[in-house]
Amino acid sequence: MSEDWKKVDSVAKFLGEHLGRAPEVVMVLGSGLRDVASGLTDEQSLQFDEIPYWPRSTVSGHTGELRRGKLGDKDVLLQLGRVHLYEGYSEEEVVRPIRSIVQWGAKKVLMTNAAGGINEYLKPGGLMFIDDHLNLTGRNPLIGPNDDSRGERFPDMTDTYSRRLRALLVEEASRLGIEFKLGVYAGLLGPSYETPAEVKMLRTMGADAVGMSTVLEVIAARHMGAEIAGISCISNMAASYGGPRLTHDDVQVAAGRATRELARLILSVVSKL
Ligand code: HPA
Repeated sequence: MSEDWKKVDSVAKFLGEHLGRAPEVVMVLGSGLRDVASGLTDEQSLQFDEIPYWPRSTVSGHTGELRRGKLGDKDVLLQLGRVHLYEGYSEEEVVRPIRSIVQWGAKKVLMTNAAGGINEYLKPGGLMFIDDHLNLTGRNPLIGPNDDSRGERFPDMTDTYSRRLRALLVEEASRLGIEFKLGVYAGLLGPSYETPAEVKMLRTMGADAVGMSTVLEVIAARHMGAEIAGISCISNMAASYGGPRLTHDDVQVAAGRATRELARLILSVVSKL
């Protein structure tokens, strides 16, 4: 077994020892999207720095903790914060948290992120349900010898973002009167935001929103057979000629607006996942 899978297994074991049986559902909440956690009851938590081999976030706004508890009547794990390639972490480190959680036993994964809108149908503060992605990081967490007991060498990526979960999100958002769009998320390395020319290129390639996370974690979770949904909170329109300059603070504030809608949606949909 590779050194990295050994680390994944020790994290999974640690989670079991400290948090008990794995909940079915894990939600990864990105930058500025913490409001969802305020609905949690019967809570137990672990700080990232208490967990062996868990990479710690270096970005402001990315708190690092796991919270396990109930959202409504559903047992869930919330991962608040994640690490990114641009922080200098390797692919293995970026996906170790999600691999460990899936290995522990959570097989339904809801990924969230803050993203820049590319398609004009998106607005800052809005939500986009991800129906597919473009991995433009130039990296892949599955490079290297494959451990066939974890997943296939060449995993199919056709229905990576589960139709079933997306249909539930669409149905529940419509019922609650929450606006949303469907679209393709492009995951880039960062940390610089895109140039206007890059945004044009992304648009031509079929991207509707752009960010610096999610795609590697999704590939790793898919490889292990998890059922995955993804939601982007549109924090800004991606750079265009003549548009305002982007700052991390503005992105955090707008992500905060989207997160209130996201929290409402998640609280209501979670029991059906
Ligand atoms: N580009 C890339 N990542 C992002 C953006 C953006 O405009 N907004 C939030 N994350």
